[in-house]
Parts: sequence; structure tokens; C-alpha cells
Amino acid sequence: MKQDVRSLYLEFFKNKGHQVYSSMPLVPDDPTLLFTNAGMVQFKDIFTGKIPIPQPNIATSAQLCIRAGGKHNDLENVGYTARHHTLFEMLGNFSFGAYFKEEAIAYAWEFVTEVLGFSKEVLYVTIHEDDDEAFNIWCKHIDSSRIKRMGNKDNFWQMGDTGPCGPCSEIFVDQGEEFCGPEDYFGGDGDRFLEIWNLVFMQYERDESGNLKKLPKPSIDTGMGLERVMALLEGKKSNFDSSLFMPLILKVEDIVGKKYIYESGASYRVIADHARSVAFLLAQGVNFDKEGRGYVLRRILRRAVRHGYLLGIREPFLYRIIDVVCDILGDHYSYLREKREFIKNQCIGEEKRFFETIENGMNLFNKELEKLEKEPQNRLFSGEIAFKLYDTYGFPLDLTQDMLREKGYGVNLDTFEKCMQEQKEQAKASWKGSGDISNSGEFKELIAKYSKNIFVGYESSESTSKILALLDENFKEVTTLNENGYVMLDKTPFYPQGGGPIGDIGSLYVNDKQVAIIKDTRKYFELNISTIVSKAPIHVGDIVHAVVDNNRLEIAKHHSATHLLHKVLRDVLGEHVAQAGSLVEPNRLRFDFTHQSQLSGDELENIEILVNERILKASNQECEIMNIEKAKQKGAMALFGEKYGENVRVITFGDSIELCGGIHVQNTASIGSFYIIKESGVSSGVRRIEAVCGSAAYKYGKDAINEIQQAKEELKAQDLLMGIRKQKELIKSLKSNNSNTTNADFKAEVINNVNLIVSKTDLHDIKPLIDNAKNKYEKVVILLINNEGKIAAGSKNTNVKAGAWVKEVASIMGGGGGGRDDFATAGGKDISKLDEALQKAREFVLECIN
Ligand code: ALA
Repeated sequence: MKQDVRSLYLEFFKNKGHQVYSSMPLVPDDPTLLFTNAGMVQFKDIFTGKIPIPQPNIATSAQLCIRAGGKHNDLENVGYTARHHTLFEMLGNFSFGAYFKEEAIAYAWEFVTEVLGFSKEVLYVTIHEDDDEAFNIWCKHIDSSRIKRMGNKDNFWQMGDTGPCGPCSEIFVDQGEEFCGPEDYFGGDGDRFLEIWNLVFMQYERDESGNLKKLPKPSIDTGMGLERVMALLEGKKSNFDSSLFMPLILKVEDIVGKKYIYESGASYRVIADHARSVAFLLAQGVNFDKEGRGYVLRRILRRAVRHGYLLGIREPFLYRIIDVVCDILGDHYSYLREKREFIKNQCIGEEKRFFETIENGMNLFNKELEKLEKEPQNRLFSGEIAFKLYDTYGFPLDLTQDMLREKGYGVNLDTFEKCMQEQKEQAKASWKGSGDISNSGEFKELIAKYSKNIFVGYESSESTSKILALLDENFKEVTTLNENGYVMLDKTPFYPQGGGPIGDIGSLYVNDKQVAIIKDTRKYFELNISTIVSKAPIHVGDIVHAVVDNNRLEIAKHHSATHLLHKVLRDVLGEHVAQAGSLVEPNRLRFDFTHQSQLSGDELENIEILVNERILKASNQECEIMNIEKAKQKGAMALFGEKYGENVRVITFGDSIELCGGIHVQNTASIGSFYIIKESGVSSGVRRIEAVCGSAAYKYGKDAINEIQQAKEELKAQDLLMGIRKQKELIKSLKSNNSNTTNADFKAEVINNVNLIVSKTDLHDIKPLIDNAKNKYEKVVILLINNEGKIAAGSKNTNVKAGAWVKEVASIMGGGGGGRDDFATAGGKDISKLDEALQKAREFVLECIN
């Protein structure tokens, strides 16, 4: 049976008054989470009361979730069990203080038994051990013997270390005796009783110190794994046998050329699973990286490639599986289809990178493993080699661990960490801002102490502020700073680097005295912190006057121009264009976007013209704060990264509408003019445009005009020079011709009244010499050969035919030629025969005139 469970679910709850929400981005704007890992993530702030409850106050969604690398990390199990995935879809219904346990249980029961059609005979439920209320409600639907009370470990659900949470109740399907194994009693860990739906009765919020606080209103959050329900309905033992995965496995079979057998097919399953995560993460703008989310993506891909390698594949292949992912899921997630080529190209690039080193890495791994197998008492693989595999061959640590787990070994993590530390110290890796999760500790402490500081830079470029905290260069908190470090103001006009624009620079003053230069500003865990170069001691509690440097206006111009460029690129090249990176500086902008081919000169010109047209329309900036769903309706270019309920800032200039938190010009006219200065490729499928506007554009234009002017001058001077040179040459040649005419060699012999000249010459141009002689004498025959082998002859008022004459002469020098009777030219090749040729010329002519 193949059913569209996703649509059935959403329809069911829609008919019960629920608002249907689309899947929020996999990368949440939430520093406590690596990836969206449950359907409730987009509603988190509603549950906790941070944002108002929407109307209707009940919702439903099919949410893409990733459970790899974060708190809920299933990566290492994927492939080896029937149900674990890195990426899956969670069907959920939510109540924000509307209904609670009674209705949530009733809806779930109705959907499972009446829509999905599961027999009551196969259904069981668990509840939290203390939840009598849930017990009594369930008793209305199911025999009490089928209800099991369980502890916090199984029946208390929370999103992460902090956040909304509560007791839960799970619905199980008994798959039958053939699934029996040692753990297969109801409530055990075996496969027979399969959990399909978790109903969470959200009642609390857990804070940073682990305390539970009551939520403003008891709420409902449920989650049902689409993949496992599909498998059950299709009568399959494993999710991988269902119609969501089988086409992917068949494609792997096709590439490998070997049949998939369930028992030995872990590698096939790993590849099928990982192709889905890689496709969605790339489509949603995550890219391969050395850290953070991009590194999880890399780990997933490399794990898949390593399993391909185990199956004998030696060249990129995952992108071909991704093609099938786009086919299967592209109807519902249309961006998979739209970005198919981009995703595949990015995937190929990363696959190639890993295939370059995997062979050597595997050899090193196998050699070390052999050594280890000879020492039965040692269960730990060398940390140094694991580090070398990581550092030199690109094997993520968990990939090495994964390869060892199959053999029952672990990695010596102490030595691995030591190597890592040493390398870090060597590289003196500088700390990076903008949400690096690995360094969250210090900043979480600051948030806890002072809460977030306020950004006042939209309204003004200066403010009187209090210093809340000072940090030294190692991010340690200090009370006084008289050296370089970091400052956190209670309210700051300095814009933190993000979304393209670089961080603001400026100064801090106390009583008009500059006490610090602001070198940069960044966002560290929602804190606006500026890097300072201290000029005088400053202290926590000081009141300072903070002033943003004037270059902010130039940054704003380039930022607004970036929006116009983005819109024009989509108009000219197509809707597939998506921002892949942006850098905005006071004197240039750089915009990376998805597009396959190099832009032609015509396209670039057209883009430049259209951006300038929009600038000249002098559109006012409109800045609105609105709900993300409204912003999307308005047509805002929504990137992945926003979650429902968040009030987003929408910046509009004419037909350019973008979600953006940055600083912009008030009217496009202040952008001035816009020039594209370079177009290039960044990686396959990503192009880059560099451009200038504002003062930088004026300078660019002025420099270009100056250059042209200079080139013109140079050309003029060159023309003049060439003219003079030509004149000189002419004079020289005339002079030499004149001298030649008087030259003894050229003296004519007179035979039978005919003047006869046969001679060699050094001159390149010999025709004028012939003409000269013909002008000078009434009857003349003349033949000259220069040292390049050029021959020319003339005849005036004689019976000598110049054409025949040069032909005869040239033949002596291995050449040929001819011409009229009165003038002819020829070329001789063999210069060594020059004298012989002159001799012949004389003989020939004497015969004629005698
Ligand atoms: N949020 C709950 C879960 O993920 C429904 O299981």
C-alpha cells in the first residue's frame, strides 16, 4: 500500500481547525540547537510566551528534522538499524494553550485507527509514571492492560538542555511475533513494538541551571515519524524497504552492480539515508566547512562516500543518488527540483576532494589496524594516527570511530585531543564570532549576567552608553582594560558583522577624549561586542560616548546596492539565483550566487544597466517589521534561516523586497552609480560579482576616465612619433637612393645607346631605385638584387622584357617571379648564388641589346 501519509495527516488536522505551517529551515536561528530536531522548534517561543500566541492557536506541520551532530545524534546508528535516520520528517499537531491531553489523545486515536486504519488489537501506549490524568483519558480508548507507565528516561520529553518540556505519552504498534527478539516485550528496546507517535504534554520550561518553570499555558506538541509510519503501512520490516528509500537503494545497486541484501546491506542504507540529508542541507544553504554545521554536513557526506568505497566505488556517485532524492521529494519540497543541479555540483566537488585522499587514508588506517590486531590487550587505536587521518586525509574523527566500532575498537581520545590542541596552538587560531557554538561558554555567562545588549544603530550612529563588560584578548572578563580587547556596551550603535556588511568601526570618548578605537564589531551569541584598541584605561561602569565612523554610510550604499543586484540577477538570470554569500564593505561589494555558467558580457552589461535604472528611480526605503509568513506572502526573498513567529525586518526598495537586519540608505538615489568590476567563479555552480557604488564608484569612474585620457595622450604621442619616424625613414631612403644613383656601382654602362645597370644593393626597398633610373635615362635597362634576394628590373625604350629577365635571373637563385615588360620583380631564395645571378642578368641583357 502506498499512501501519501503526509497529506492525510495535514488534511486531518486542517479539518479540525489547525493552521498548516510549512517546514521551517533545518538551520534554526537558535544558538542552543545545531539543527532543527523536532516539529516544535518553530513554535518554541510561542510555547514559552516570548511571542504572542497566533490565531488560530492550534497548528500542524510536516517538519524536516536532522538528528546528527547535536544533542539528539543518531548518525552512528544509521544503516545498522531499521529506523534511525539523519534526516526525517516529523508530522505534528500543536496546541498553544488551546486543547490539552483530552483532545490530543482523542485526535491521535482517531487518526491512527480511522485514517491510518491500524487495528486496535496492535496498538499499545506508554505514559509517564505519575500521569494519572493521561491514564484515565487513555482508558476511554484502550484497555488498561495496554497502557504502561514508564519513568523520566522514556516518557519525559525535552528539546535540548534548555527549553520547553513535559511528560509524554507514546503510541506503539505491535508488528507481530515474527519480529520477536530478546528485548521484545512491550516497553522493551526490541523491534516488535514500534513507537510511532509521541504526544508531549508541554507544561514546563527548563532554564540554564536545570530548573523547571511552569509554562504560561499547558500546551501540546506531538511528533510522528513519517518514514516509519510509511513502512508500517506498506508492510515493510524496515524504513529502508519503504517507497521513500527503496528507489535510492536500487540506484546504489545500479551503480555498484551488486544486489542489495538486507542482512549485509548496511552500506546501501547509509548511502540512501545520507543522500537525503546532504541534498536538503545543501539546498537550504549549508555548505561544506571545517566547523559547525558545515562540518556535520561534511561528516555525513564522507561517511556515505566511505561506505561507497567499501562497496567498491572509486569515483563520485552520491550526487546520482541525490538525483533520485530530488525526484522522490521534489513534489513536496519544490526547491529540491529547482536547485537540483546546484546540489549535485556541490556534492560532486566534495566527493572528489575526499576521493583524492580516501585511498591513502584507508591504507594508513588498515596498517594501523593490523598492528592493533596483533596486540590483543590493546583496544585503543592510536590517537596520533586518528589525528593524522583527520588532519591530512580528511577523515572526521567519528568516521574513524565508526570504522573501528565495527571491529570493537575505540580511538585513544586523549592523544587525539592532545594533537588537536597542539595544532591549534601552533596555528594560534583566532576566535571567530557569529555563532561559533564551540566557544559558547563565556558568552552564555555574559548573557546570564547582563542579558543581551541593545542595538540602537538603526536610529542613530552615536549613543551615550555604559560599559557593561570588558574582555581581554583571551575573552576573559576584566574590570579595567588598558590594552587591546573587547567591550560590551549596554546599548551600542555599532552594527555587528552579519548578513553581508562588515562590522562597524568607530571610537569611544569620555569627556571628548578618545579612550578607544573600535576596530570591528561582531555578534557573539546575540551579544554585540566590539574589538577595541585602547587609548586610555577604561572601566566597567564608565559612561562613554560611542560614535560610529563615517564609512557606515558607504557600507549602507553598498548594502542597498546588493539588494538591487540580487533582484536584478533573479530577473535576468532566473529564479534559481539564490544568495550564496555576501560581503559589504565601504568601498566594494561582493555577491556570491547560485548559477551554473559564466555570465556573458551582454548579461553583465544588462545587469549593470538595470541596477542603475533602479538607483535612478530614487525609491524610498520602506522598513517593516512583520511576521515571517506575511513577509513571504509579500514576496520577500526569504532565505532559509527564519522561523515562524519571529518578527522579521523587511526592507523594500521598489520591487526589491528582502528580509534583512542591516543598515540601508534612505533612498536609492544616494547609492550614486553602480559598476560591475569583476565576474568570476567561486566553486562549481556558484558565481561571484564584485561591484562598486557611492564614492567608490565615482573614484572608479574617475580613474577609468583618467586612464582613457592618458591612453589617448599616449596614443597621440605615439602617432606623432610614428609619423616622425616614417618621415625620417623616407628622408633616409630618399637620401640613400639619391646617393645610390650617384653610386659608382650604379653607374650605367652604355651599350648601343642603351644605359645598362646590373648591380646588387643593400637597400630593402628597391623599386624607387628602378624608377629613379628610368626617370634619369631615356633608354635604360636596370636590374638590382638586394641581400634578401629580392630582384627588381626595369626597361625603358629597349627590347628587353623585364618580366622574362627577372624570371631567368631568379631561377639561378632557386626562385621565381615575373611582371610587365617595363617593370618586374622576383624573389631568389639562395643568396649564395647572388653573384652568379648578376652574371646571368648581364649575359641575358647583352644578348638582347647587342
Ligand atoms: N517533540 C516531540 C518529539 O520530538 C514530539 O518526539
